[in-house]
This record gives sequence, structure tokens and C-alpha cells, in this order.
Amino acid sequence: MATALDGAEVVVCCGSGGVGKTTMAAVTGLHAAAAGRRVVVVTIDPARRLADALGLPDGLRGEPQRIERSELEGAGELWAMMLDTPAMFDRVVRSHATDAEQAERIIANRFYRNIAGALSGTQEYMASEALYELHGDPRFDLVVVDTPPSRNALDFLEAPGVLTRFLDHPVFKLLMMPTRTGFRVLTAASQPLLRAIGRIVGSDVLADTVAFFQAFAGMESGFRDRAAAVTALLHDPTTRFVLVTGPQRDSITEAAWFADQLHHQGFGVAATVVNRVHPRFGSGTAADASARAASAPVGSDAAALWRNLAELRTVAESERVALAPLAERVGDELLVEVPLLPTDVHDLDALTHLARHLFP
Ligand SMILES: Nc1ncnc2c1ncn2[C@@H]1O[C@H](COP(=O)(O)OP(=O)(O)O)[C@@H](O)[C@H]1O
Ligand SMILES: [Mg+2]
Repeated sequence: MATALDGAEVVVCCGSGGVGKTTMAAVTGLHAAAAGRRVVVVTIDPARRLADALGLPDGLRGEPQRIERSELEGAGELWAMMLDTPAMFDRVVRSHATDAEQAERIIANRFYRNIAGALSGTQEYMASEALYELHGDPRFDLVVVDTPPSRNALDFLEAPGVLTRFLDHPVFKLLMMPTRTGFRVLTAASQPLLRAIGRIVGSDVLADTVAFFQAFAGMESGFRDRAAAVTALLHDPTTRFVLVTGPQRDSITEAAWFADQLHHQGFGVAATVVNRVHPRFGSGTAADASARAASAPVGSDAAALWRNLAELRTVAESERVALAPLAERVGDELLVEVPLLPTDVHDLDALTHLARHLFP
């Protein structure tokens, strides 16, 4: 993992849900801060897992918040924030608006208020916006992002492109047309298609929607340029992807698929972290332990303990088998194993413990 961080300005922790992305983002941030860097860790996780992992009982805010710990004294800085999607959307609108009046018109619009947090892909897009903004913030020299718990782990990477495609979409063009052609007001009655839509969604909703797109006029190019800049940052060699996976076969298959997709889109995986690997408890095999169980007195504690060990080693051995193809495809130097801890990770001690495995 130290190699993955070397020269990195952005670290993106990705992978499917529940594998330990948030935890690894926190460990990475903590380690880099202890090594003297000024780090901000941003989570998108609504479950407040990062706050939990950092041992912050009051949760995180939508603005970076400095984490003061005795462990970090004399070292770098550790900051953390949780993405507030609607607030971020407002900021983006304000930054692209041609004037304050346009920004307020959009922000007050009912259609906008309803979609700002809810539209599919908005969270992913705002996460990439936040990443871009924090990367340009002089307070930080490393941004660690914990990607959203999307159905599809690729959504985050594709968000800027999705936005660009939306701006090019014929429906968007149709809604923008009246302003382009100089009509001041678009009435639903003036367009047979909009009249039909209005009958289905209701004329109020339609009026709000049309007003939103009209208010949006003049901002498309700003959004388009920004989406291109965000995409460029994601592709920059100083942006590193850390793929997190569990040791089970399904998890590994998904991670391998995801690594292929990343590769296909021109992103390299700087490190693959296999989290929650079962320990082997010594160098013997499951078969050895079963043999010892069989030769111990029937019904004895020793027999039960050997059987128990045989079961645990069977799990560890099947994880080895499941991992082999992944280890082969990424190359050994990029694969990091992190053991399953006996408890959840919700304080700095546990994070420090995990950091010893990620950064030996
Ligand atoms: N190595 C580990 N050992 C034990 N528990 C872990 C380990 N890594 C993560 N966890 C726990 O697993 C749960 C899911 O981790 P989290 O980082 O929130 O996953 P994700 O962000 O990928 O959904 C959390 O409760 C976390 O404390
Ligand atoms: Mg998470």
C-alpha cells in the first residue's frame, strides 16, 4: 500500500458494498496523516461508517473537519467530511451560474429541490465534484475518497460522462429550446409533446420542470467543462484506485470483474486489498487437525477443539483457493491481505491495528 500512496494526490477506495471500503479509506487517511501529509478523507456513506471508524460519536459534517488526536501530534493533519449531496449540488449551481440571481432561481425551483438529492447518479456525480474541489483546496495534499455504496461500483467513475450525455440528450435540448430560440416563456400548450407529458405528470410539475431547464440556460458549458476536468483528474497518474474485496469466491469474482472494467476504461488498480481474511492458526492443514480430532478420546474437549480448528482451517483454505486467480491476475506485489478482526472497526486503536497490515 505504501507504493500505492507514493506520489498520490487522490486515493479512491472502491469495491462492492460491505467489503470494507470506508474502513480502508479511514486507515489510509490515518496512515498518510501520521506520515506527515495533510489528508482529507471524504465519505459518501449515509450509514456514517467513517465517523464510526474514526471514533467520532457526533458524526461528520458536510465540511472538512479536523480530527485532533494525540496520535497525530507533530505529524501531518487528518480531516474528514461526509458528502452532503444537496448542499454540494447548490454549491455547484452557484459556481456555474452566470449571476447570483440565476443561482437563486434554480435553487428555489421545486423541480430542482426534488431532484437535487434524489436523482439517480446525483450522489455519484457530486462525489466526483467534491473530490475535484478538495483536490484543488490548498489545505490538503491528499484526498482519500470512499466511493458511494452504489448498486454498480462503476457508477462513480461514469458519473461525469453521464452528465455530459444528459446535456446532449434530445429531451434536454427540447426543454432548453425556447430560451435558445428567444421565446421568453414556454407554455405547455405550445408543444404537443409537453402537453402530453403535462397530462401525465401534472401541469404544475411540468411548469416547474420547464422553469428549471430555462433557468439552467447558459450553464451547460460550465457543467460540461467541469465534467471533463473531473474525468481528467480521475485519469491523472496521481489518482490511485484501491480495490477492496472480501476473500469469498463471489466477492473475488466481482472484484476481478471490476478490475477488468477499470482497466478497460484506462484506470489502473494501484492495490487490491483482500479484507477480512481468516487466520490459519499455525502452519498445519485442516486435514491435520481432523486427524488429531479423530485420534483424541471420543467426546473429549481436545477432540472438540481439534474439530473446531479443522473447521476454521477449512474456511481459511477455501479462501486461499478462491484468492489464487485474483493473486495471479494482479501480481503479488499489489495484493494486500488484511485479517478479520474479532470486533468491528470503530475506533482509532482498531484502525491503527489494521494500518500495521496495510503498511507493514
Ligand atoms: N478487517 C476487519 N475485521 C473485522 N471487521 C471489519 C474489518 N473490516 C471492516 N470491518 C467491519 O465491517 C463492516 C463493513 O465495513 P465498511 O468499511 O463499512 O464497508 P463498506 O464501506 O465497503 O460498505 C463494518 O462494521 C466494519 O467495522
Ligand atoms: Mg462504506
